[in-house]
Amino acid sequence: MRDKILKNELEIAVASGDWESLGKMAADIEKETAKLKMEEKEKFYAPSSTSKEVGEKTVLVTGAAGFIGSHLVERLLKDGYRVVGLDVIDLGGKGDVKHFSEELLRSYIYDQDIKRQNVQRSLRHSRYRFYENVDVRDEELLEKVFQENRIDQVMHMAALAGVRDSFKAPQLYLEIDEKGTERMLAMAVRHQIKYFLYASSSSIYGGVKDNRPSKEEDIPSPRAPYPAAKVGAEVWAHTYHNMVEDLIRSGKRDKDKPLWVCGLRFFTVYGRRGRRDMALRKFVELMAGGEPIPIYGDGSQSRNFTHINDIVEGMVRALKNPYPDEIFNLGGEETTVLTDAIELLERYLGKKAIRDYQPPQRGDVHASLADTSKAERMLGYRPAISLKEGIRDLCRWYQMWVPFKETYHRYQQLRDKREGYSEADLQEALSLKDELKRLLKLKEDDSEYLVAYHYLACTYRLIADICKSFS
Ligand SMILES: NC(=O)c1ccc[n+]([C@@H]2O[C@H](COP(=O)([O-])OP(=O)(O)OC[C@H]3O[C@@H](n4cnc5c(N)ncnc54)[C@H](O)[C@@H]3O)[C@@H](O)[C@H]2O)c1
Repeated sequence: MRDKILKNELEIAVASGDWESLGKMAADIEKETAKLKMEEKEKFYAPSSTSKEVGEKTVLVTGAAGFIGSHLVERLLKDGYRVVGLDVIDLGGKGDVKHFSEELLRSYIYDQDIKRQNVQRSLRHSRYRFYENVDVRDEELLEKVFQENRIDQVMHMAALAGVRDSFKAPQLYLEIDEKGTERMLAMAVRHQIKYFLYASSSSIYGGVKDNRPSKEEDIPSPRAPYPAAKVGAEVWAHTYHNMVEDLIRSGKRDKDKPLWVCGLRFFTVYGRRGRRDMALRKFVELMAGGEPIPIYGDGSQSRNFTHINDIVEGMVRALKNPYPDEIFNLGGEETTVLTDAIELLERYLGKKAIRDYQPPQRGDVHASLADTSKAERMLGYRPAISLKEGIRDLCRWYQMWVPFKETYHRYQQLRDKREGYSEADLQEALSLKDELKRLLKLKEDDSEYLVAYHYLACTYRLIADICKSFS
């Protein structure tokens, strides 16, 4: 069927200038492509051996369009869960950041298109339902999501995630990261959710103390509003758990309706589709484009870089092994000095980095180091991906992703024109279609592949629209 689409009759109609049948044909092809996309998606998410134990469980993932959330959604679908995702995507649309500067706004509303592409990968999967524009502070909308779906477990990932930006707007971090978590917990109690997992952060430790890895029982020492809000979120989770226990003890709530909570402290997560404000992802992009990379301080700072697949594995293990009220460190297998990580990037990108040394940044800790023995003991968590392997994969993904990114950009430019199309635009749309088909044939990366199918279908529709505008 793919060949039928790839060798379509579109070109013949273009050559003969038969705009009317071209428009009809493009619409048919679009339909077929959508069907094919669906089949590809079902294959991509073919249930794994764990599906039986998962049964019909439905997990709500907040922040589902983000870096970690979107990887988590993919993994849950693969494992056979039903998934409901929600994300505000455009925080600016909510109006509460309008008093901030353009620059600040941009960093909050980072790459909405990237987030939408993250969602595209899983959208239309028969076991996935996604709600855009739902803010975790908006009770009315949350109520609708809970009422429309029979949710069993919550994995709360939504947050403003950058340490540095949090200095500029502490109240917004407090609102979203702490109060948003509190609202989600209240909703979980109301809807009798038994297990609530949420993202916390290694930054709450405020760096390494006494030269030893950070343990869950260490007293938090936040050095920025972001980790302070995360500590607040942890306290709220613990508090709601206790409140529900007290209700059960006093006979005001059934004992089979507890609220178990689990906080996961992630250590510097990196990997495919990583956030562009984070060092490794930012460096890949800058180095690939021959631009200098900013190094804050002398580059001797070290991080427990953790590959996204290890993080997702840890989260799924936590989901499947519930405890009443726990916190786990999820970190990588080794800690690495930034300059060593840059050398690995140089090796796998085949490019020399142009190092631009700058003064240390406020809020940055010199070192982060995870003690993951608790997660290993209680969840069987063991990070499996070395930094070398992870960086090699990141570079390979980036090099694959660049041509996709360029086609998205070309598509968006054409689409946004909306009217007044010329012959040159039609030629551009046709060459875009050819490029997408070429990329689809590479079929090297399943998740990009699904997005390319979506854009191919959109390009067909665009060709039809351009043709209609000529007739
Ligand atoms: N990436 C890391 O290294 C790292 C480290 C420690 C902790 N974390 C935590 O993990 C979680 C996911 O981080 P990420 O790196 O994927 O970040 P991300 O920015 O890619 O994802 C967060 C998502 O939350 C959404 N969001 C923000 N405010 C919202 C709101 N009010 N309502 C609904 N959705 C909202 C955003 O649109 C975004 O898609 C966050 O809680 C973050 O604090 C991440």
